[in-house]
Amino acid sequence: MQILNGKEASQSIKDALKLNVAQLLAEGKKVPHLAAILVGNNGASETYVAAKVKACEEVGFKSTLVRAEESITSLKLLDIIRDLNNDEDIDGILVQLPLPKHISEQEIINAIDPDKDVDGFHPSNVGRMVLGQPTFIPATPYGIMLLLEHYKVETKGKHAVVIGRSHIVGRPMSILLSGSGYPGNCTVTVCHSHTKNLEEICRSGDIIVAALGRPEFVTAEMVKEGAVVIDVGITRVVDPSKKSGFALKGDVDYKNVAPKCSFITPVPGGVGPMTIAALLKNTYHSCVKRNYD
Ligand SMILES: NC(=O)c1ccc[n+]([C@@H]2O[C@H](COP(=O)([O-])OP(=O)(O)OC[C@H]3O[C@@H](n4cnc5c(N)ncnc54)[C@H](OP(=O)(O)O)[C@@H]3O)[C@@H](O)[C@H]2O)c1
Repeated sequence: MQILNGKEASQSIKDALKLNVAQLLAEGKKVPHLAAILVGNNGASETYVAAKVKACEEVGFKSTLVRAEESITSLKLLDIIRDLNNDEDIDGILVQLPLPKHISEQEIINAIDPDKDVDGFHPSNVGRMVLGQPTFIPATPYGIMLLLEHYKVETKGKHAVVIGRSHIVGRPMSILLSGSGYPGNCTVTVCHSHTKNLEEICRSGDIIVAALGRPEFVTAEMVKEGAVVIDVGITRVVDPSKKSGFALKGDVDYKNVAPKCSFITPVPGGVGPMTIAALLKNTYHSCVKRNYD
């Protein structure tokens, strides 16, 4: 069994981006600039945005964090997005999800300039991804593709089982794995909360991507010998033994599943760091495409 180490793979991507930034500076060009919008004070969202801002600093990107009150209206949020769309220095805009219930996430995402939509959630970028055209690929599935590539995991002809069909993880993951090229060329089964015989389907999976948000849902009995298991889940569970008071749990029962796998991602240290590296890559490409192509 080999661990798909997201910390290590993301570090090599960040090292390459640092060199790219040094090259831009040496040529007297601007550095990539990411703007993140954080609405309210959800603890997990605060952590994720802080990690993204820190990663920008690490590779030499500029970042701007725009904070808004939980009670902000859709119109005010749309104003913020319009200003960021019009700001020539900003290359990437991300809105940390989830947004408060009174705001339509899709309306907000639709307002982002697709050329700055580094999360890849805008309908025109989703459409391009489905058509296999160059675009911003949503950071988590893109990060998983980069991780498979980094460890040269064979995907051609494999049966991939994706558990979860959300717009941000499961659905794009299924499209990417079924696409042509590498990583890809899988035969994909997408599972969700209405799927029957899920355990049996999982057992036939050469690759399992667990993205449902249910701690330790995938057990050893659901995984065949030699499978590749990608654990996307991050759920905070109360853990008084931790300083923070909580522990992060993946969707896979790692301890019992790992011995059966050819490759497996840990939580934390697997998909999480790759998501951030993928976001940085999207932001770099946006900067180059918008300013220097
Ligand atoms: N590591 C990272 O960087 C990263 C990034 C994003 C998300 N995540 C984590 O990944 C997990 C999934 O995130 P998400 O945003 O995709 O979640 P989501 O929007 O809640 O979607 C969950 C999906 O799982 C399905 N599902 C739920 N319970 C199920 C069950 N018992 N059996 C089969 N399918 C079930 C749901 O089916 P229905 O469609 O039928 O409801 C839905 O499609 C969460 O833990 C999240 O924190 C991690």
